[in-house]
Amino acid sequence: MRTVLVTGSNRGIGLALVHQLAAQGDVVFATCRDPEGATELRSLAHRYPEQVHMVSLDVTDAASIQRAFQIIARMTPALDWLINNAGVLIEGETLATLDFDKMAYAFDVNTFGPFRVVQRFLPLLRGSKQPLICQMTSIMGSISLTEGTGYYSYRGSKAALNMMSKVLAAELRPLGIPVVLMHPGWVRTRMGGPEAPLRPEDSARGILRVLSTVTLRDTGRFLTWEGKELPW
Ligand SMILES: NC(=O)c1ccc[n+]([C@@H]2O[C@H](COP(=O)([O-])OP(=O)(O)OC[C@H]3O[C@@H](n4cnc5c(N)ncnc54)[C@H](OP(=O)(O)O)[C@@H]3O)[C@@H](O)[C@H]2O)c1
Repeated sequence: MRTVLVTGSNRGIGLALVHQLAAQGDVVFATCRDPEGATELRSLAHRYPEQVHMVSLDVTDAASIQRAFQIIARMTPALDWLINNAGVLIEGETLATLDFDKMAYAFDVNTFGPFRVVQRFLPLLRGSKQPLICQMTSIMGSISLTEGTGYYSYRGSKAALNMMSKVLAAELRPLGIPVVLMHPGWVRTRMGGPEAPLRPEDSARGILRVLSTVTLRDTGRFLTWEGKELPW
């Protein structure tokens, strides 16, 4: 049994992760921006009342992260896994149409958000005997695999997340906390769209299988949901 925090868990891959973690007996702090409106997550919390705890958390808002920390720290002395899953993708970007406010927002959610959450929850991760940080990134954050145009904000913010997480991995290695970058595949969610080949539940199953094998030897690796290594 593990205790796991998932961000952005009201839909998509995050929701599928919460479902599978609860079904396998883990305790999940299922965080999202709007618990009131999170109907699917709410029904999971009813189905697994001992395991799924809904907590409000917006990764761009330090005060909301602090409130979530206070709630969770009262419920558990330790957190085993932190899955930084929340993310946004800005569509339709070209050089001519770049909107720097939107770009800043993408970096705020995709890059700074995971770091705000790690910074605040580190004391609970340090209390775990089997800690792990999973940063949900994307193959679109791989510079060497990038071809074609568009998605400046998404690609840039995920590449920055990759770089910063590599540094984080080195900083947390002496504490025994592995950090991995995870590409979940191309998944049929609001972000991935209806053409995506993978169902969220299949991506989530693969992600959890990979994470369960991660040790400190794997820290700083960029992996897919199938456990394959991706180039930076
Ligand atoms: N789907 C794919 O093909 C794919 C491929 C590669 C990587 N990924 C990555 O996988 C992760 C999950 O993606 P998904 O496909 O499940 O996307 P999704 O269906 O669009 O879900 C995104 C989640 O992030 C949450 N979120 C957005 N901004 C937030 C904030 N400021 N604070 C807290 N939560 C916030 C959303 O909450 P709201 O409902 O409140 O907006 C939602 O729960 C993302 O990091 C994404 O970049 C996805």
